[in-house]
Amino acid sequence: MKGLIPAAGRGTRLEPITLAIPKELLMVGDKAIIEYVIDAMKMVGITEITIVVGWRKHAILDYLGSGERLGVKLSYVVQDKRNGLGKAVFSAEHIIGENPFLVVLGDNFFYPKTFLKDILAFHQEKKADATMGVAEIEDPTRHGMIKPGEDSIIVDMVEKPSVENSPSKLGCIGIYIFNHNIFNAIKRTKPGFNGEYQLTDAIKIMIDDGYQVCYKEIKGKHIDIGTLEDFRKANAYLSNL
Ligand code: G1P
Repeated sequence: MKGLIPAAGRGTRLEPITLAIPKELLMVGDKAIIEYVIDAMKMVGITEITIVVGWRKHAILDYLGSGERLGVKLSYVVQDKRNGLGKAVFSAEHIIGENPFLVVLGDNFFYPKTFLKDILAFHQEKKADATMGVAEIEDPTRHGMIKPGEDSIIVDMVEKPSVENSPSKLGCIGIYIFNHNIFNAIKRTKPGFNGEYQLTDAIKIMIDDGYQVCYKEIKGKHIDIGTLEDFRKANAYLSNL
């Protein structure tokens, strides 16, 4: 299985530092955030990893290079326009090929590093077409929220709903396993929340097409680093371990 790390987002809420430094390179403890994701992929045997970069993101390439230092093989694709996570994933279609692949967002902090083990085993056991890592979410307006059905199936999804409109407390924490059908679904996705091509809407198309889309709760600590407060929380968490 190959890995894909979208890292093209602008990091507006972390400006001004993100005017010069991609948020994925901010240090949590003694490592850049994105290194934790790469280490976690390596721990489950995924060593061919593609990173989606964009404008003002060249420092990621300078920092990670070929991946040799980290013991992985990295390649890079470019998302020219900041038009959503759906398009970010689609930009790697030509590299991913026909096999299932794992997506982990490059700006999310997870601990412990073994957080991918269970979801991969679960996906294979379920023979799912897609599996999303979820957790109980405090603020649904920052996440893709799911409507869980029986037997770990997702029956509906909404991107960043209000508290009142959220279908449950379970939301996506930036971990996905897909088979190649996701690319066809992204092609048919229309601009959604914020005028962007949302991955959540593409997954909804897979559900409507009748594919088996499952969820798996991810144990451990998760912090989606979007603001300075999140960044401080992640650092405080690690230094208190
Ligand atoms: C993205 C996804 C959202 C998901 C979140 C996890 O949002 O669109 O569905 O819940 O990542 O971090 P973003 O954080 O890029 O706004």
